[in-house]
Amino acid sequence: MAQPQLVIMGAPGAGKGTQCAKITEAFGIDHITTGDALRSNKEMDISDMDTEYDTPGEYMDQGELVPDEVVNAIVDEALSQADGFVLDGYPRNMDQAEELEGMTDLDLVLYLDVSEEELVHRLTGRRLDPETDEIYHVDYNPPEDPEVEDRLVQREDDTEETVKERLRVYRENTEPVIEHYEDEGLLERVNGEQSPDEVWEDVKATIEDAA
Ligand code: AP5
Repeated sequence: MAQPQLVIMGAPGAGKGTQCAKITEAFGIDHITTGDALRSNKEMDISDMDTEYDTPGEYMDQGELVPDEVVNAIVDEALSQADGFVLDGYPRNMDQAEELEGMTDLDLVLYLDVSEEELVHRLTGRRLDPETDEIYHVDYNPPEDPEVEDRLVQREDDTEETVKERLRVYRENTEPVIEHYEDEGLLERVNGEQSPDEVWEDVKATIEDAA
């Protein structure tokens, strides 16, 4: 069987990063995440691209989308090196979805379904371990080791104000992409409000069914 080629979708905080860690380990495929790639290149000079701001970080800190030209190039390069992948954070608007169609074929689009109230709680309580990149939550998934707890950091765009803007941008730009994949018959919905392990059971079964 060829390695799976997947997109994972869901609102900010739906649990995409949490599930991708399990998917990549279980299926041995690459995790291509535009969010992480852009966070590593927040200060990149994009002023020659005729964009509103000069760096990706200026868009991200306000919860706005980074220009397509920047993101498309990141994904194109990552896909050219991948043997099986789960694409996380892309496509986020219809132009990106069309661009992706010219780059590769997809076996499945997974959609993690979570209510808006729960999303805000998850994002404002999310913490990251800068040494291991492990994702935690102050209530749902606190670290057991006090040394790890002491070094946790909050993402700069996880403040309540920026979270609300990210959700607005998501509704406006990304929901049409979800409808598009539903019309194409590629989308499978998973209830993302269960525990992370229960979500994983459903995610794993859905990927295996699509293979
Ligand atoms: P990105 O990094 O892609 O962020 P996002 O889509 O907003 O998603 P998150 O990473 O915030 O959430 P997640 O679904 O991965 O949730 P997680 O697993 O961490 O994008 C950031 C920015 O980059 C964008 O705003 C934009 O500026 C730019 N960007 C990125 N891609 C772009 C693109 N294609 N085009 C243009 N711009 C782009 O979980 C969240 C929390 O909940 C954690 O604390 C976790 O522990 C907890 N949790 C997870 N699952 C559960 C569960 N089942 N039950 C209880 N708690 C849970």
